Amino acid sequence: MKIEGTIAAVRAQVKAWKKEGLSVGFVPTMGYLHEGHASLIKAARANNDRVAVSIFVNPMQFGPTEDLASYPRDLEKDAALCESLGVDLIFHPEPEEMYHEGFSSFVDMSVLTEELCGLSRPVHFRGVCTVVSKLFNIVQPDRAYFGQKDAQQLAIIKHMVDDLNMDIEIIGCPIIREEDGLAKSSRNTYLSAEERQVALILSRSIRLGQELCQQGETSAEVIVEKMKEFIGTEPMARIDYVKAVDGLTMQQIKEVKKPMLVAIAVYIGTTRLIDNFIWD
Ligand code: PAJ
Repeated sequence: MKIEGTIAAVRAQVKAWKKEGLSVGFVPTMGYLHEGHASLIKAARANNDRVAVSIFVNPMQFGPTEDLASYPRDLEKDAALCESLGVDLIFHPEPEEMYHEGFSSFVDMSVLTEELCGLSRPVHFRGVCTVVSKLFNIVQPDRAYFGQKDAQQLAIIKHMVDDLNMDIEIIGCPIIREEDGLAKSSRNTYLSAEERQVALILSRSIRLGQELCQQGETSAEVIVEKMKEFIGTEPMARIDYVKAVDGLTMQQIKEVKKPMLVAIAVYIGTTRLIDNFIWD
């Protein structure tokens, strides 16, 4: 496994693979890898000749008051995990390699980015779309793997690839959870022992929403209200949003339809966690 920090080195490696007719699977990440990331890497490993993983905490997708400086990092551990999963190449650039002086081009999507996380994180998806476009141009993969954990991000990337005619297949992978239900996240490391227990309110409210769907509830508004009420019983949890949206357009809906995305963002202390389910 190679670890490269420059765009030129990655391009050279990918060019050599393509010359041999090898397919390339790509998993973009911000590092501090866990089993959620590992599931994407395994999917990439199973369906491609070569696997590239990027580890880059992208400053552009963090707002000025967000956790860019404190975002957890552990390259050594990440590299060991990647090696054990059969990754061929890690791209780990410095911010200056990705954003040279005078950088001024952005990929800015409307509509899908204006709901859910886009409301509380106004610069976030511009940063995500820009960096993912850049990474796609650098790695030029055949397939790229994203988690359903970030359902809006997955929908946005699929939409971007379609809008901009990028010749890359986007594969969505299911949410990986801890045994007690909490969705795995690099940000779970911010939680104190007490907050870690309180954080179960997210996955439990997701389960409640799923049960209501299974019981035949047809009002998306009722599902959202019941989930909000349930989260409200936990005094240490503060709701950012609980919403039911069209699974493709991310626009809010009143009646249950398929595919429907029910997504939540909840602060536990100062840590903002997200979770969701798709009703399809
Ligand atoms: P990051 O949060 O590191 O996540 C990288 C990928 O792992 C994303 O596609 C995310 O959805 C997936 N993932 C995270 N937790 C998961 C879980 N519990 N189950 C399944 N998949 C999970 O998302 C980003 O980085 C960045 O925005 C990025 C796309 C790399 C652009 O900077």
